[in-house]
Amino acid sequence: MNLETPKIRRADARDVQVLSVVGRRSFDEAFSDHPANHPDDMRAYMDEAFAEATIAAEIANAQTIFLIAETGNEAAGYLKMKFDAREPCVSGERPLELCRLYALDKFIGRGVGRALMLEFLKIAAETNRDTLWLGVWEFNYRAQAFYRKFGFEKCGEHVFQLGSDPQTDWIFEKRI
Ligand SMILES: CC(C)(COP(=O)(O)OP(=O)(O)OC[C@H]1O[C@@H](n2cnc3c(N)ncnc32)[C@H](O)[C@@H]1OP(=O)(O)O)[C@@H](O)C(=O)NCCC(=O)NCCS
Repeated sequence: MNLETPKIRRADARDVQVLSVVGRRSFDEAFSDHPANHPDDMRAYMDEAFAEATIAAEIANAQTIFLIAETGNEAAGYLKMKFDAREPCVSGERPLELCRLYALDKFIGRGVGRALMLEFLKIAAETNRDTLWLGVWEFNYRAQAFYRKFGFEKCGEHVFQLGSDPQTDWIFEKRI
């Protein structure tokens, strides 16, 4: 296990494959074992969300930024953010959405989430954002605790479609 502080860099078009692989693996590791998640719904979601074509289109979108955390030469996690998307409960004029934040299982609890979050907060400040927000599954207590630690609070809910399963995500917001 590599214990060095993760290095954070912005992804570009050369990172489509690594984001597709790490995106799918980290989502699978995080949610496949939960009894509420049917394998068919997991597969349907992951096939679409982590297809290389989907990731390539997102990287090409100027409103979206991916960050990759690396320890040594190994990708350990990633973050996806999107400018100016919002939900009804989100206040502020210049929102920034934290769309995804994932560490691979073997790196959880080793500073990957913190390093990605700190870079996200830095980019939010540099781009003059006034509100940060995210959706987190109602049963994802670990991530909720992590986000509260960084000052996010629940402001509402929305539906997250996992395959055929309409799940409930809590919306968390942080004013800056
Ligand atoms: C949520 C997640 C990104 C956090 O990343 P991480 O790398 O495990 O967290 P870190 O090791 O960087 O911890 C950062 C801080 O949060 C704290 N923290 C981490 N998990 C926590 C928890 N379950 N409860 C309370 N605090 C927590 C740590 O103690 C640490 O605080 P410290 O620096 O003051 O000691 C990670 O657990 C993860 O990828 N989970 C699976 C995917 C997921 O659920 N993503 C969110 C989807 S919305």
